[in-house]
Amino acid sequence: MVALAEDLRLALDRAEFARTLGLEPDPWQERLLRSTSDRVLLNCCRQSGKSTMSALIALHRALYHPGSLILCLAPALRQSQELFGKVLTFYRDLGRPIPAQAERKLSLELENDSRIVTLPGTDKTIRGFSGTALLIVDEASRVADELYFAVRPMLAVSGGGLAHHPARQTWCVL
Ligand SMILES: Nc1ncnc2c1ncn2[C@@H]1O[C@H](COP(=O)(O)OP(=O)(O)OP(=O)(O)O)[C@@H](O)[C@H]1O
Ligand SMILES: [Mg+2]
Repeated sequence: MVALAEDLRLALDRAEFARTLGLEPDPWQERLLRSTSDRVLLNCCRQSGKSTMSALIALHRALYHPGSLILCLAPALRQSQELFGKVLTFYRDLGRPIPAQAERKLSLELENDSRIVTLPGTDKTIRGFSGTALLIVDEASRVADELYFAVRPMLAVSGGGLAHHPARQTWCVL
C-alpha cells in the first residue's frame, strides 16, 4: 500500500519525481515540472538544466501514461545522443520500474507500450511518426523552421483545452 501511494505521488507530481532522482528543482524548474500547459517554451541561459528537465519530463510521461509516443528532436546527432543519454540514466537510476521491450541507441520501448524516440533534426524519418503524445525540441533555436512545421501536424488532433490531462503536448526547449 505504501508503494502504491508513493507511486501515485510520483505520477501526479513531476517535481517529486525529480527529487527521487536526486535533483532538487530550481524554482523555474519546479514551475515547469508542475505546468499543465500544452505548449511550453523555455528561454533560459546555458547550462541551466533545460535538457535535464526535458529528459525527466519525457521519462515521466512514458512511465505514467501507458501507450505514449514521446518524440525528442535535437538539431544534430550529438545533441540527440546527449538528451537520450539523460533519459536512459534516469531510467536506470530508477531501477527500470517498467521493463524495457527494447533499449536501443536512441530509443526506449517499454512494456506499457510507451516509446521514447530521439531523432536528430536531419533525420528524414521524422515525418513518419504520428500520434505523438509529447514532442520535445531541444536546442529549438537551431532546428530549421521547416522541420518544426513538418512535425507540428503530429499534435494537431489535440487542439486546446486539455490542460489537466493533456493527450498531446509540445515542449520547445531553447
Ligand atoms: N536542479 C538541479 N540540481 C542539480 N543539478 C542540476 C539541476 N538541473 C540541472 N543540473 C545539472 O546541470 C548541468 C546542466 O544541465 P543541462 O545539460 O540539462 O543544461 P542545459 O540548459 O540543457 O545546458 P545547455 O545550454 O548546454 O544545453 C547538468 O550537469 C545537470 O545534471
Ligand atoms: Mg541542453
